[in-house]
Amino acid sequence: MPVEHLHTLAIHAGEEDESLPDVAAPLRMASTFRYASAAEAAQAFSTEGQPIYTRWGNPTTAMLETKVAALEGGEAALATASGMAAVSTALLTALKAGDHVIATTGLYSGTYSLLTRDLPRFGIETTLAEAADPDAFAAALRPNTRALYLESPGNPTLALNDIAMIATLAHNHGILTFIDNTFATPYNQRPLELGVDVVIHSATKFFCGHGDALGGVIVSTQEFITRALKGPLRTFGGCISPFNAWLIARGIHTFPLRMARHNANALRVAEWLATQAKIAWVRYPWHPSHPQYALARAQMQGGGGGVVVFEVKGGEPAGARLLDAVELCTRTVSLGDTRTLITHAASTTHRSVPREARLAAGLSDGLVRLAVGIEAVEDIIADLEQALQAV
Ligand SMILES: Cc1ncc(COP(=O)(O)O)c(C=O)c1O
Repeated sequence: MPVEHLHTLAIHAGEEDESLPDVAAPLRMASTFRYASAAEAAQAFSTEGQPIYTRWGNPTTAMLETKVAALEGGEAALATASGMAAVSTALLTALKAGDHVIATTGLYSGTYSLLTRDLPRFGIETTLAEAADPDAFAAALRPNTRALYLESPGNPTLALNDIAMIATLAHNHGILTFIDNTFATPYNQRPLELGVDVVIHSATKFFCGHGDALGGVIVSTQEFITRALKGPLRTFGGCISPFNAWLIARGIHTFPLRMARHNANALRVAEWLATQAKIAWVRYPWHPSHPQYALARAQMQGGGGGVVVFEVKGGEPAGARLLDAVELCTRTVSLGDTRTLITHAASTTHRSVPREARLAAGLSDGLVRLAVGIEAVEDIIADLEQALQAV
């Protein structure tokens, strides 16, 4: 789909209910909804019906789901309380005790902990495969492998998976492919068109865009989404608040505009950092120094995304001095906000990942993650420039 259509879908998809006079999508902040008769209630709760109780379904949540399904080009979507609720709900829909998962290295720490610490307690095992090496996935296959799990670009290494190649491998073996598309977003990367079965988002990030609501979304076939809704979402209970769904859907109206600006700003910042004598290295998918630059240009056609990572010469202590000296950039975790956020990954977002696993994934002790916002890029660069003087 041409990127231009995303601008229209972001505004209109899910909001075309002509029976409502409201121009802006209404917020249906109710835990339950009344039925006209006992028979109507019974029908809604029958196997074919759609009961309305906010853990089972809510009109505002449905509006967000329709919007994100349209943006990803998927049949259906399911909104969840957070990105981690989306990851866990999606995996628990597909897996059972005795199953095996192959997951990329360089995962968000919450996903890493779910796969390597929590799911093994329920008899589900994971092997990690080197992100940049598609052969590593093939080599890790077992008769009981049921899912390949990708995160591309990975948080925070920005390592890429060759999505089409890995999805083909999965299909040849009757295995489902999952991808966390939070960093790339559908503006930059279209995983379903590359053969992926299930797309996962932390909607807390670029979709929401304003740093004020947590949420997650799963996009897949109607069959998978119905199983996820009737199974783990309802019983484990990770449903989204309608208020957060409304905030995120409202944020999505400007998501393509913001994403274009995140892409442009991040590329400029990466180019500038690469010229600075005090910077040891910089990594950004659309910067030619990225080891998988050709793949990034082919796979992330809309842009390189809003995150740049780098290391200051002198490593972790020098990076800490930079962080202490920034004035415009905000020292905190997360990404996808209008404002620029900066963090030291090893001691914050990825603190729970053991050091050997971090280093094996390419997350060095000194890595600084910059979630470039949509301010004037000159101001972001000026702030980094003055902060570098303190290093
Ligand atoms: C790539 C990625 N996936 C999932 C998550 C989890 O999202 P949430 O914080 O909304 O649960 C994060 C959080 O930073 C993330 O960066």
